[in-house]
Amino acid sequence: MKNITVIGAGTMGNGIAHVFAQNGFAVSLCDVSKEFLDKALSTISKNLDRQVSKGAITADVKESTLKNISLHTALSDAVKNTELVIEAATENIKLKKEIFIELDLLAPASAILATNTSSISITSIAAQTKRRDKVIGMHFFNPVPVMKLVEIIRGFSTSDEVTKTVMSLSQKLGKTPVEVNDYPGFVSNRVLMPMINEAIRTLHEGVAGVEEIDTVMKLGLAHPMGPLQLADFIGLDVCLNIMNVLQEGFGNPQYAPCPLLSNMVMAGNLGVKTGKGFYQYTAGSKDLVVAEYFRK
Ligand code: 3HC
Repeated sequence: MKNITVIGAGTMGNGIAHVFAQNGFAVSLCDVSKEFLDKALSTISKNLDRQVSKGAITADVKESTLKNISLHTALSDAVKNTELVIEAATENIKLKKEIFIELDLLAPASAILATNTSSISITSIAAQTKRRDKVIGMHFFNPVPVMKLVEIIRGFSTSDEVTKTVMSLSQKLGKTPVEVNDYPGFVSNRVLMPMINEAIRTLHEGVAGVEEIDTVMKLGLAHPMGPLQLADFIGLDVCLNIMNVLQEGFGNPQYAPCPLLSNMVMAGNLGVKTGKGFYQYTAGSKDLVVAEYFRK
């Protein structure tokens, strides 16, 4: 496999394009506007600079990685000769279904169609196409160039052959693929999101403050980030959305999102991307400062 298409140039899409291009694949990166694509390429370039300055890659690898990426605003161009499409558009079920209907019409009949969804049923996405056996989940983790896992999610009709191809492809990227079945939250978010939600409940009930909760989990359980900082990093809207998927999918009140999480999302305090969540963020600063409304 040589030609890959990535749909969506946001954080996950540009990370996925970066990793494939660095490993010698020709990547067509597609988004709705040139502005989003240019921004993505500049992010990839900065992340490659970081790898060069740490001695992880050479300047030549940086150059060849960037050369392997072509930018497209027309889906038909982006998928012309593709062998694998990875969709990493906004986490919206209607949008993803529309994209898969188009992909099924435009991409070569032999192409595998993967989605980086963190919560939407692979089986329901596959049902929009006439190639249900060739639709699969490839769930990458942020930051994509750093995180080793790819959660490979088999839809109800995904074939053994497609699963095998995607597993071995992930290994070629230097990642560790893990195969799981298609149930709400898969494995990663079924385990992670209730933990984050419980940390928010712990804060909401006044058991402890933001820093205290995160410190317990960082120093007591060796998590690289506490759950509240991680929620900011992922985006509180994404966390809320996944809790809703778990609650609907399992019909169990144990997955009800904490009202504090819902309130923060309604208020637009979504974490790093809006500059404020459990912590507040200033561009260029690495200091972790608790948001003023949570200070004692
Ligand atoms: N591109 C390339 N390299 C990067 C990078 C990027 N975007 N971001 C960080 N790095 C590299 C750094 O250069 C550094 O490399 P080194 O070890 O060779 O020096 C290394 O990663 C660590 O980075 P930093 O020193 O800047 O910072 P930290 O040591 O604090 O690590 C972190 C940052 C890797 C983000 C760490 O805090 C971490 O692992 N956090 C948890 C991340 C996590 O859980 N991600 C999953 C989120 S859930 C998800 O994505 C799924 C969705 O469905 C919700």
